[in-house]
Amino acid sequence: MNATGRSEDRGPGFAEAIAHPNIALAKYWGKRDDGDRLPAVPSLSVTLAGMLTRTRVRFDAALDAAELVIGGAQASVGATARVAALLDRVRSASGRLERARVESANDFPTASGLASSASAFAALAAAATAAAGLSWSAARVSDLARRSSVSAARSVLGGYVELPAGRAGDLELPALPVASSDHLDLRIVVAVTREGPKDIGSTEGMLHTTRTSPFYAAWVAHAPSLCARVRDAVLARDLEALGAAAEESALCMHASAIAAAPGLIYWTGATVEAIAEVRRLRARGLAAWATIDAGPHVKVITTPADEDAVTRAIAGVPGVLRTIATRPGPGATVVAGAPAER
Ligand code: DP6
Repeated sequence: MNATGRSEDRGPGFAEAIAHPNIALAKYWGKRDDGDRLPAVPSLSVTLAGMLTRTRVRFDAALDAAELVIGGAQASVGATARVAALLDRVRSASGRLERARVESANDFPTASGLASSASAFAALAAAATAAAGLSWSAARVSDLARRSSVSAARSVLGGYVELPAGRAGDLELPALPVASSDHLDLRIVVAVTREGPKDIGSTEGMLHTTRTSPFYAAWVAHAPSLCARVRDAVLARDLEALGAAAEESALCMHASAIAAAPGLIYWTGATVEAIAEVRRLRARGLAAWATIDAGPHVKVITTPADEDAVTRAIAGVPGVLRTIATRPGPGATVVAGAPAER
């Protein structure tokens, strides 16, 4: 797709948006059992430049149902239904009756297990509301994205972003800005340890943890203090405190999943080797802390000054296939067809 819409694509009913994945420095893992996709714990992430999702939405009276094309290929029935649910919310908020065709593409491999639903639903929420002619605030777009994927609420905003835990009776829960992307100039080196899709997606994995892990209650009790430590460290620009709290958050989240029955182990040998290398780097005085999402890849938090040394060391870990360089970046942006452009 082009950076901007082709001229014949502009006009009412069309918009294109871009959004980036985010990495949670304080993890979200688990939903409340009441409410509409409300997280059980607060989370705090940094939105990343360096990986991008681009999504076009066109409302079209000729369509009988929502259509979804990802990376040029027709999407599965399940993926299309999840997208159609968001589009239905936009249709009822805007009064539009037409169905929409959605085309989405990532500039990183979609089936790699890195392809987070966060950038996908953040871009979709931004494009769909703009295409429907809604001039919504970022908070409203974030709340819409959260209803499709909790972590997507955070990718609507740039920089450092917090999503509070849901509370009983919450009808809306948008992510909140904590600090801009240039507030704390860290780097995140992604160590890709496997190509191909992950085994168990986040939605299913956290539900299994919620239902069967004896450590889940401990995770829910402890997560708010980890998130507060991450927030304080970001605001104080204290990378050492941030790294320590982020690594603890990731390990506590994975401990709760590993203790599920049967245990949910997202890691491979390369994941453990990469964590060990991160600790060796730290012992040598380099800035390096590990975080891991629902997959085997390790994301290393570091500084601009130490990025090259950390990248070289992590790339040399047996089982690390390649690395991706990322840094704090912007939130979801409508690049064509915004209501203001018409
Ligand atoms: C491990 O937001 O993908 O990346 O809300 O079910 O769509 P759903 O889950 P999702 O979970 C992300 C989990 C995580 C941690 C995080 O991003 O906070």
